[in-house]
Amino acid sequence: MTLPDRSSLSRREYVRLAVAAGGTAALSACLGGEDDTSSVDVPAGTDDSDSLPTRQHAWNDALTADEHGNVQPPAHHVLVALSLQDDVIEDGRVDETAREATETALRSLERAYEWSNEGLVFTLGYTPAYFERFDESLPDSVDLPDPTALTTQEAPEFDEFDAVLHLASDVPEVVLEAEEGLFGEVSELNGVNLETDLTSVFDRLEDRRRTGFVGDGLPAEHTDVSGVPEAVPDDAPFLMGFRSGFRESQATEDRATLESGPFAGGATQHIESMDINLLQWFDQENHFQRVSKLFSREHAVEDLTGEVGEELTASSGLSLERIDATDADAREHNVVGHSQKAARAREDGEPLLLRRDFNTVDGDRPGLHFLSLQREIDEFVRVREAMTGADLDVPMANNGIRHYIFVNRRGNYLVPPRSLRALPPAAPEP
Ligand code: HEM
Repeated sequence: MTLPDRSSLSRREYVRLAVAAGGTAALSACLGGEDDTSSVDVPAGTDDSDSLPTRQHAWNDALTADEHGNVQPPAHHVLVALSLQDDVIEDGRVDETAREATETALRSLERAYEWSNEGLVFTLGYTPAYFERFDESLPDSVDLPDPTALTTQEAPEFDEFDAVLHLASDVPEVVLEAEEGLFGEVSELNGVNLETDLTSVFDRLEDRRRTGFVGDGLPAEHTDVSGVPEAVPDDAPFLMGFRSGFRESQATEDRATLESGPFAGGATQHIESMDINLLQWFDQENHFQRVSKLFSREHAVEDLTGEVGEELTASSGLSLERIDATDADAREHNVVGHSQKAARAREDGEPLLLRRDFNTVDGDRPGLHFLSLQREIDEFVRVREAMTGADLDVPMANNGIRHYIFVNRRGNYLVPPRSLRALPPAAPEP
């Protein structure tokens, strides 16, 4: 992707396009922009690696929260797809120099940037294909099957490379600089010298790189992309026009964490990428229908959400009765809500998935990279089945948002605890 002519674009839009394009040229274009700064300048990280969480996915305490305690995800995201170089694992053994280089490079990120929205949070997750390189199998305590199609309507491609690095920050230049530090020609990150990079361990798969954004007002900035209508509300944090990620609809980090075995402290991760038919969503549907299909019919009748979900506080307003009414809503009102039916998979009232999804206009098409953390991939599959709602007696067009989303890629990952994040063996010593 080449960078567009900046004179016709706002700074925010230009920087977003630069994140999507990636690369050293994109980074310098951003840094040499309006402010004419020559490097990123954000809060520094720490040399004391023991002060950082032992779980890679422990982001929540470090991120900001709104007045209702809902975690505010970083605004800008990059998923860097990685393929291991040939000699890094030979005869089922990891080359120690490569492992040390990986750990040192990741520590450099932590030294450079504060673990926060303004700095950088990240995880490095590994696919089943990576673990198949070893003679031993993963322990029984880890549920990490190969990804498969999960609905009869989809024929997705699968993430069959080795690993994915998820970089997230409120500052777009930070995600770009961190990626370029690890794989490009940048040797200083936020003023801190990079000791080593990942170029001797992994190759970046440019055509599998994914990017995106989440946050109030960001989706509406993309109405220049074909397929993103002017009707996207100005304040909406997601392209479909509503808030998401309410505290009570999210698994806690504890609930998503593996509790036993050598990978205790890790989590599994699923990434489902999809296109969204926003033109139909906004043109053929009105606000009442959109609320019915995303939340529940009762949310629409009682006007519980407001325009973009601003009336909801720490919860998406899904009482037990509303969740239990899913079947009856299908039969009696011919419509069910996406969150209403997904919530049927809660266990003992607790959501199983910690969702960290973000929108995208990768490939100049609107979409969502749905990323969730959970203890077992099977939990994701069960929630996805509840969301699909094949059991419900309702037409496809009114079965939540299924009619508007088109899944094109799936991947399963293990996000090991921080102590095992650098090229973990399949069967670590206890
Ligand atoms: C374009 C795609 C999607 C959009 C716009 C979307 C939007 C939403 C919204 C607005 C909510 C309610 C607010 C909240 O509770 O945070 C929600 C809840 C939820 N969504 Fe999605 N979602 C999408 C895709 C998915 C996918 C692929 C899954 C996979 C299983 C999923 C699973 C869930 C779950 C588990 C909940 C919470 C249910 C509960 O309260 O227990 N969503 N989503």
